[in-house]
Amino acid sequence: MCGIVCYVGRRQAKPILLDGLKQLEYRGYDSAGLAVADGQSVAYHRALGKIVELERKIGDIEINGTTGIAHTRWATHGEPSERNAHPHRDMDENVYVIHNGIIENFHILKRKLEKKGVRFRSETDTEVLAHLIAQNFEEDLEEAVRRTMGQVEGTFGLAVIHRKVPGRIVVARRGSPLILGLSKDGHFAASDVSAMVRHTNEVVHLQDNELATLTVEDFSISTAQAKHIERSIETVEWRAEDAELNGFPHFMLKEIFEQPETVENAMRGRLEPGEGVPKLGGIVPVWESLKECRHIVIVACGTSYYAGCVGMYVFEKLTEVDVEVELASEFRYRKLNFPANTFIIALSQSGETADTLAAIREAKRKGARLLGIVNVVGSSIARETEAGVYNHAGPEIGVASTKIFTSQLTILTLLALLLGRHQNLSLTEGVEAIRALQELPGQIRSVLAQANHIEAIAQKYYSANNWLFLGRKFNYPIAMEGALKLKEVSYIHAEGYAAGEMKHGPIALINPEMPTVALAPLDDMYEKMVSNIQEIKSRRGPVIAIATEGDERIKEMVDDVIEIPATLDYLNPILAVIPCQLLAYYCASFLNRDIDKPRNLAKSVTVE
Ligand code: G6P
Repeated sequence: MCGIVCYVGRRQAKPILLDGLKQLEYRGYDSAGLAVADGQSVAYHRALGKIVELERKIGDIEINGTTGIAHTRWATHGEPSERNAHPHRDMDENVYVIHNGIIENFHILKRKLEKKGVRFRSETDTEVLAHLIAQNFEEDLEEAVRRTMGQVEGTFGLAVIHRKVPGRIVVARRGSPLILGLSKDGHFAASDVSAMVRHTNEVVHLQDNELATLTVEDFSISTAQAKHIERSIETVEWRAEDAELNGFPHFMLKEIFEQPETVENAMRGRLEPGEGVPKLGGIVPVWESLKECRHIVIVACGTSYYAGCVGMYVFEKLTEVDVEVELASEFRYRKLNFPANTFIIALSQSGETADTLAAIREAKRKGARLLGIVNVVGSSIARETEAGVYNHAGPEIGVASTKIFTSQLTILTLLALLLGRHQNLSLTEGVEAIRALQELPGQIRSVLAQANHIEAIAQKYYSANNWLFLGRKFNYPIAMEGALKLKEVSYIHAEGYAAGEMKHGPIALINPEMPTVALAPLDDMYEKMVSNIQEIKSRRGPVIAIATEGDERIKEMVDDVIEIPATLDYLNPILAVIPCQLLAYYCASFLNRDIDKPRNLAKSVTVE
């Protein structure tokens, strides 16, 4: 969704801001803009569409200035248009503001401002911020922003410059991420470290209801009550090259191919083969309560939710804990009774998904304990949970999540194994699990080695308008994730179903034009999956089976087979999802879709 990047320093701001915006493109947006101050005037440009449109608009116009703010917008209030793109200005064209989040009381504020004679130029909620800051400004820009924070309700990560306050940017946050970046050439602020990682690895996380003032030499943080805050500097582990394509045509494909390493990274230093027990340093603070826990609720959205669904089956297999999985967006509307010592596990790549954040806040209110499995270090969910485990998977740029899914499955398995080994799981089962986990990176490589074969299957079916994905037990969520991937990147309609439910509806759709992807590895669900496949074949539906290596029987039945190596039943999803990711990728590629930035989707959904 919306992205923010700001710079004040010794270098020209324009190229730094445009490059920063490009690094944020993956978040999904519909328009972009920037404002650069040179100490006297402000250069101000906005454009509908991609960053290249903004560049085209700026053309050869010379923009000098070492202080600037820039934004990518994902429309919430007002259509995507140049008029609604950020920055927004006050009437006297002194204040320039960019904003992520939603100002909930903007209608009331707008009406009051209009009564005072303010004329609005856009339909956005953000524009009220520009007018309010202008009205609250006397001499001190930070104080004007602080007063404005007291007047607005809702969420914001915002950045402001003032034409008459040279060399200074004020930023503030409530509910939307903002990170400061420090370098010897100046200071940055961004909604996402990837916008600054080419320039610095030293960051400071701003927390809710805090403001910061940045100048070329210095930065200072204070609260909404004007209390000065000292915050330690952190070093981010992401490297600039992590956010580059390195020869791949798309980030999605690059990230699919990174999975041997990201699954390995999720286990690195966390396995104790001899004892059959993983070590998870991040949960030590809650371990005494967690090991007694008998009730877990996993909350997440999108692909992370499907990882949670697999997690539920894995916990049931390995532990004595009762596990529920809930969509974060629905969680708050349930009337859940948590038994004492219930743990909530929030799964989130970004650590900023608004519904997941809201769900953990609600769970905390009800007395639950909070764990996070998060990729982005220092993100809101990472900070608001008591303890947790990081994915250490590097930035995921493709909007459709791939490598984080398998990383989440790996970490959920480690957590279940750890709990299980303190409950009823034997040493033999623990040792067997760790041995199988260690084999996964090599096995993922062997699935990836079939990319050309999978591409050929995609070529055969990409023009089908509807697809069905079927699986049972551990692989039922993989059917849903496979369908989601295909929808997200190729815009082909697809349904993911529990294979047992096929007879209650989807079977009516089966015909020679509708391919079914059947997840049928050799496990205790195999025979039932075979029956489902036969039901489809007898209605002349094409079937692509994802099956265990060497399964000759299934080859006789189906049209196409993608083989995955044999592993433990509860680890099959980590291998079985990879052909689904590749099928989605190649179908989208044949259809010439904008694979890394599918229409209407956003990487990090920061509105509820
Ligand atoms: C968006 C993304 C998905 C992601 C979901 C949850 O919809 O496009 O890829 O799975 O948000 O995001 P999270 O960061 O919480 O895992």
